Amino acid sequence: METILKVEGLKTYYFTSTGVVKAVDGVNFTMQRGESLGIAGESGCGKSTLAYSLMNLVPPPGKIVDGSIILDGMDIAKMDEDSLRNEVRWKKVAMVFQGAMNALTPVYKIGKQLAEPLVIHGNISEDEAIEKAKEILPKVGLDPNIINRYPHELSGGMKQRVMIAMALIMNPDIVIADEPTTALDVIVQAQILNLLKKLKWEMGINLILISHDLSIMAEVVDRLIIMYAGKIVEIGNSEDVFGKPNHPYTQGLLNSIPKLGTHELNYIPGLPPDLRNPPKGCRFADRCPYVMDICRREEPPMFEVGNGHYSYCWLNR
Ligand SMILES: Nc1ncnc2c1ncn2[C@@H]1O[C@H](COP(=O)(O)OP(=O)(O)OP(=O)(O)O)[C@@H](O)[C@H]1O
Ligand SMILES: [Mg+2]
Repeated sequence: METILKVEGLKTYYFTSTGVVKAVDGVNFTMQRGESLGIAGESGCGKSTLAYSLMNLVPPPGKIVDGSIILDGMDIAKMDEDSLRNEVRWKKVAMVFQGAMNALTPVYKIGKQLAEPLVIHGNISEDEAIEKAKEILPKVGLDPNIINRYPHELSGGMKQRVMIAMALIMNPDIVIADEPTTALDVIVQAQILNLLKKLKWEMGINLILISHDLSIMAEVVDRLIIMYAGKIVEIGNSEDVFGKPNHPYTQGLLNSIPKLGTHELNYIPGLPPDLRNPPKGCRFADRCPYVMDICRREEPPMFEVGNGHYSYCWLNR
């Protein structure tokens, strides 16, 4: 197996007027070539911030404050803007941004918007870029003629396919899709997920799929990262994390997926901690049904709980 991405000790903070938000606070993981990775966790746990960090494109007042992101021998966390723009963004790592399909500019045709990253990063003319865009559209299940249409003439699912095409256009190694199906109805959701799976197989894309919805991840990703309050709490093969969840937070998340035929609505009581002032020890302690003294005193280390399956929980001591 070849490691294509290695993230170590990553910390990304937002420096706001009311304090420092520790949105990603010491994250470690690796990604192997050909593998797809899912990142799941409640709203606000740092999924998008982690994704932005992987392109070193964290919006202000955020920035990477520590750690390394090694891709192809380069440390993305420490690269300057020029090198990031010329060597990394879109070419090596591309992203389908959360909510981006609603950010297509209404006044430009799809072709012009699709071509934009190519013109900016690929040193080619707009006409050439539009030709390239036409080649990529059938790969995402769209007719090349939609380059002449305006965004309002497309359905939500079509717009999301355009966003995926935009991420693919420079033939990147890694594609990050941040909540790519959230605003879509269930049928279109399934179509988009199938498309991502197909692209992974046909184009050899290393997919990082982000969602708060564990049930949609089951089908798509090989390995799963569960995040809570800026940290990874569990990581492992999807079947293991779904089938034998170790961390009480993962168990709670899986229990809160609505089940057909019951009227029960389970959820995890309480709220995630304030990331400006996270508790010491385990960040989940206040909501954990199994909390012990040590959990409030010391941060749990990583425990191996199965083959390639790790959990940061003192219950495994
Ligand atoms: N621009 C910003 N300025 C200040 N704080 C921010 C900013 N963006 C995000 N945060 C904070 O960082 C934390 C992580 O946010 P992030 O958007 O990464 O979460 P997420 O897991 O992607 O959530 P969601 O599922 O809602 O998309 C949250 O506490 C959020 O309030
Ligand atoms: Mg997000």
